[in-house]
This record gives sequence, C-alpha cells and structure tokens, in this order.
Amino acid sequence: MYNFDEIIPRHNTDSFKWDFFNDPQEVIPMPVADMDFRCPPAVLDALKSVADHGIMGYSFVPKELKDIFTDRMKNLYNWKIENEWQVWIPGLVPGLTATCKSVGNFGDAVLSTIPVYGPFHLAPSWAGKNLQTVLLKEENNRYTFDFEAIKKAITPETKVFLLCNPYNPAGTVFTKEELSELANICNERKVVICADEIHCDLILNNSKKHIPIASLDEQTAMNTITLQAPSKTFNIAGLGCSVAIIPNEELRQNFIKAKSGMFPELNRFGIRSAIAAYRDSEDWRLELISYLKANHDFLYERINNIKGLKMNALEATYLAWIDAKDLGIENIQKKLLEAGVRVNAGEMFLGEGFFRLNFGCPKSILEESIRRIENVLK
Ligand SMILES: Cc1ncc(COP(=O)(O)O)c(C=O)c1O
Repeated sequence: MYNFDEIIPRHNTDSFKWDFFNDPQEVIPMPVADMDFRCPPAVLDALKSVADHGIMGYSFVPKELKDIFTDRMKNLYNWKIENEWQVWIPGLVPGLTATCKSVGNFGDAVLSTIPVYGPFHLAPSWAGKNLQTVLLKEENNRYTFDFEAIKKAITPETKVFLLCNPYNPAGTVFTKEELSELANICNERKVVICADEIHCDLILNNSKKHIPIASLDEQTAMNTITLQAPSKTFNIAGLGCSVAIIPNEELRQNFIKAKSGMFPELNRFGIRSAIAAYRDSEDWRLELISYLKANHDFLYERINNIKGLKMNALEATYLAWIDAKDLGIENIQKKLLEAGVRVNAGEMFLGEGFFRLNFGCPKSILEESIRRIENVLK
C-alpha cells in the first residue's frame, strides 16, 4: 500500500546524509542512520496541523503521549511501565550523556562494547568519565557479548554499562539468556545499565523478539535507564522526540538533574509526530519492515558474493556492518567514495577494516550502489 520505491530527491534539504559532505551530486550517500522514505501519512498530517495552527510556543509532553507509550510497551514488548517513569528528552545521544553524567562521580568509568555507534565511546568523556571497552565476539556469524571479558573489564570505578540492543552496527537482537547474564553481572557489581533500544521496532528476523532488558525482573528494572524513540522507526529523527524510562526514583531524579538546563523541552512537531507514529502508523511500520527485509536479503547475497567482503545477516536495523579486512585496502571508505558510494568508515565505531552501509532507501538506489561497489572491487 505504501510506495517505498519512490525516489524523493533530498539534495538541498539541509540533509545531513545528502548535503553535509559536499559530495558531487552523483555520489550515493549511504551513511547516517535515517531513511530515504517519506514518513507515515498520519505523521505528515499531524505536522501539517501543527503548522496550520501557526503558533510555535513552548510545549510540554501531554498525558496522551505518555499513555500511548505505556500501552505500546505493554502491547509490543510485554513490559509494564508507569507514566511517571518516563522522562521525555530531545534525543538519545543527550540521554546517553545525561546517564553518564548522572551516575557515579567525576573520574569514574563507563563500560561499552565495541565496535559500537560513535556516541557510546564518546559520551563518557563528554560527561567527565573514563571509557572502558570490551570487544564483541563473533560466534556462528553473529556478534554477541564476551561475558568473561566483560567481567574482567569491570573495576570498582565502573558505574555504567552502555548496552545497545538491537545493536548498531552489528545488528544483533540479544536473547533473553544473553540479557539475563548481562543483567546478573551488572546487578551484582552495582553497575547501572543504560539500554539504548532506539532500533527495537525494526526487527528484520521474525524468529527474533526484542526484550527490553528492564522487563526481565524487578532488580534489573531498578538498575536500568532505558532509552527509546519513534525516530528511527518512523523516520522522524530530525524532530527530536525520545524518552528515558527510569523506574528507579533516585536514578530518575539524578538523570533529571543532570539534564537540567542542558536540553530544550520537546517541541510540538516532535510530540504530535510521536503520537501519530505510535498510535496511527503501525501498518506503515509493518510494511516498512518487509521492504527493509527484502533490501537486506538482496544486499546480503550480493555483498557476500564479492571476494574479500563479508556481511553477517542482521537480526535488526537497516545498517549493514561489512567486514572488508580481507581486501587489504587501507582506506575502503575512500575507495568506495571514488566509485560513487559514501559509507561510514569502521573507525567511527572503533571497528577498523569494516564499513557500515545504510540500506534504508528505495531498492533501485541500493541496486545502483551495489553495482558500483562490485565494479570497483572486481
Ligand atoms: C544506537 C543509536 N543510538 C542513538 C542514535 C541517535 O539518537 P538521537 O538522534 O535521538 O540522538 C542512533 C542513531 O543512529 C543510534 O543508532
């Protein structure tokens, strides 16, 4: 019913993905995690209605949005939350930083697995904390936690574990067993879990299920700050509307204190689009997932047919993590750019020898980018 094949020009729209890098027009941009699809119609209607009203004063998050979000967590993820636990914020990255700031003292440490989305290894230093890292391990063509390494890496200074689930860029959806083991380690050592679940509504492998780590049990709920948003799912990342779910009153008050005066309150475009997305756009989301899955399967096959490249099947997200180490090319991002495809270099994620490719675009654009990649690497 929705036309995800439509090519909507994005040049000269102040787009980070399409305009920021000043690439020649013919370069296909495949970095940055937003999609080249029009937002759901209900979202666009909501935005038009705000614009038509014409007054752009201050807003607050209405009970309506909190109720919708509470119901959504119960219906989609069997997680019973309270409206009072929700702290709405304009972005997940500020949420990561506020978490790092609000837990522990200056000079304490924050542990993150790598390779990982850039702000996971940057937010600790933005918040005056030291970064500790542990490598993910690859097992049966799937990236997962190395629990022994995590246990070894935790020191008395470690106050926060940054969890990305589903994982950007490895695409893993962690199982109940994996999450339980991680939670046990963190709960036992009094390390607060900060769970970034921004990609949770984009599960591509339908034998996988997103489990919010805070839904495991009461002890884990009280030790977790969960971050979510409609932004990736409904392609409204530019509207700044996200939520921290913090059942523990003390952690919540410290988080609110840490963010005070740092971020603006949400704006009405973000609020109304979140309501329209969550309440009225489920059919769009389900069609989007089918489209992304087809793009994924196409990309997976073609990439793995290129000698020297390896891609594991993603369980979630539209961000492929491609291992190019066997090519032995020093700067793969530069090489692909010369061929007319911009990707994110693995270094951004502390994953040298890899690149990340965003396939949240019409199939014809993906096909053309693959043709260019094949040609240059032949
Ligand atoms: C795991 C993860 N967290 C956070 C973000 C960005 O969140 P925001 O734009 O709300 O700051 C992204 C964007 O790619 C992401 O992949």
